Amino acid sequence: MSERARVLVTRRIPRAGMDILEKEYGTVDVGAEDRGLERDELLGLAAGREGVLCLLGDAIDAGFFDAAGESLKVVANYAVGYNNIDVDEATKRSVVVSNTPGVLTDTTADLAWTLIMSACRRVHEGDALVRAGEWPGWAPMQLLGVDVHGATLGIIGAGRIGSAVARRGTGFGMKVLYADERDNPELESELGAKRVELAELLGEADIISVHVPLVPATKGLIGREELAAMKPTAVLVNTSRGPVIDEAALVEALRDGKIFAAGLDVYENEPALAPGLADLPNVVLLPHLGSGSLATRSKMAELAASAVVTVLSGGCPPNAVNPEVCGK
Ligand code: DGY
Repeated sequence: MSERARVLVTRRIPRAGMDILEKEYGTVDVGAEDRGLERDELLGLAAGREGVLCLLGDAIDAGFFDAAGESLKVVANYAVGYNNIDVDEATKRSVVVSNTPGVLTDTTADLAWTLIMSACRRVHEGDALVRAGEWPGWAPMQLLGVDVHGATLGIIGAGRIGSAVARRGTGFGMKVLYADERDNPELESELGAKRVELAELLGEADIISVHVPLVPATKGLIGREELAAMKPTAVLVNTSRGPVIDEAALVEALRDGKIFAAGLDVYENEPALAPGLADLPNVVLLPHLGSGSLATRSKMAELAASAVVTVLSGGCPPNAVNPEVCGK
């Protein structure tokens, strides 16, 4: 990195986003090609920037804003979830924060369904058995799973992604329950979905898929008590944020057969796993791949890069999460 560019991208993102930024600014600094930045690197590289395009693993807090200094006008998160950003702090300092809503809804819903199918039908265990050369041939009692078709699907958080997961359930003839702070009349009229209290959903649903954002009220939303309220045949899937589920309690529930299986794409302390989680056969573990298709990651890059350009040109991007500071 020679002369400090106006904009920092903390880690390499798809070309589509870099093209937008380079067309506008010529040189754009990229923090690291293929690794996340250490905290001190992030703070050092942020100094004097006008725009920072960051990742969900970058902690954008008061210390970051102090390090960046008064030149900073926009932080564009390369994710729809922005729990890594202290938005109040950004707002106080008139820094616009943006995220990437909409473009990753269906890709993430597809992955939630990948986990549902894998966990219910023990796909990962079957694959491992065949690969290991240990498959003795067809057997009546081998790797029996739970049915997906006709099951009751419980959606916790019926926003964009939760709704897209629910819609896919109609192809499997599922009954849909949802728990949310708000009614979702569209989901009710379209799918006959029913809004219920979380406690009812936990006791009724065969398959539970979590789609709430991580905020103080949803941290540990699914703990020991909630897991105990689920059916012993229940399957729990999480593609939202890890800390929504108490991972140690989940390990216990899976180990003790309190629930049938789980599918996780996100973890409490990524990339670390709770002790014992990886030893359990009845959990499918993915490395935070929800939005991970080539097309979607490019669209996210375009959206984040465009937000930077819009703010630095004096405008307000449609994906600003604190639009009230635009133009300040
Ligand atoms: C998000 O966007 O919040 C996902 O977790 C990563 O794409």
